[in-house]
Amino acid sequence: MTGRTGPAARTLRATGVTKVFPSPEGPITALDGVDLTLDPGEFVSVLGPSGCGKSTMLAILAGLDTPTKGQVMVGERAVTEPLLEAGVMFQRDLLLEWRTCEDNILLQFQMRGLPTAPYRERARELLEMVGLTRFARRFPRELSGGMRQRVALCRALVHRPPLLLMDEPFGALDALTRESLNVELGELAARTQTSVLFVTHGIDEAAFLADRVVVMSPRPGRIAGEVRVDLPRPRSMAVREEPEFVARTGRLRRMLAEREQGTVADV
Ligand SMILES: Nc1ncnc2c1ncn2[C@@H]1O[C@H](COP(=O)(O)OP(=O)(O)O)[C@@H](O)[C@H]1O
Ligand SMILES: [Mg+2]
Repeated sequence: MTGRTGPAARTLRATGVTKVFPSPEGPITALDGVDLTLDPGEFVSVLGPSGCGKSTMLAILAGLDTPTKGQVMVGERAVTEPLLEAGVMFQRDLLLEWRTCEDNILLQFQMRGLPTAPYRERARELLEMVGLTRFARRFPRELSGGMRQRVALCRALVHRPPLLLMDEPFGALDALTRESLNVELGELAARTQTSVLFVTHGIDEAAFLADRVVVMSPRPGRIAGEVRVDLPRPRSMAVREEPEFVARTGRLRRMLAEREQGTVADV
């Protein structure tokens, strides 16, 4: 892929983010005073059990939802609306069935009333990168789950965002497809120096991809601890057998098991 020409990467920083949802049974505190930083070029995984507030956190970081307390900054600017310098991906690919793959990738420009012509080549380039050149004019229903998520990845990257925010993007895929997409994502993030925040409940996936894994506690979501994975990126699947890697996933496993006892130090 060619070099970056989009907006420059800045630090994304959440400070004291609390989110309370109203509900018929009374208010639900989904997040309680979460601090989280993503530096330019850094890959951070957010790991936590189902319902701990990961999706809520990602939506707030992306400017798709607002915190009840606390704030999110990108560089010196407060995030108060959807963050244009971020590409966002969710567990469901959210492709429109009646649009071709290429037109799905170009959707955001049409929605914003911008010309798509300058981006057609970029869309083709991205499809080539994920091995889907032949599918540019095909419809999503002709693709497997893994191929559809690759198209969703192209769509998230088409405006060359310096930031990628991903909410369990490979959670619905079979194990082998998920592994190959993890490898592809790791290579892409390293090559393009994209900052990535990757939400998952998979320990191996979190550690395989990240420079740093942030562990969240069950509801109300708080930061329970953090593990650095200071192994060079991009990584190959073989890294999972290295003792340094196994030690870190072991530590993450223990943190998740002990999480109900409060903050666990990264020792
Ligand atoms: N819009 C909403 N209204 C009410 N409760 C919500 C809403 N969104 C999330 N929640 C609640 O907040 C908690 C955290 O949800 P979520 O962020 O989806 O967790 P996760 O992504 O870690 O599984 C859950 O208990 C969920 O039911
Ligand atoms: Mg979620």
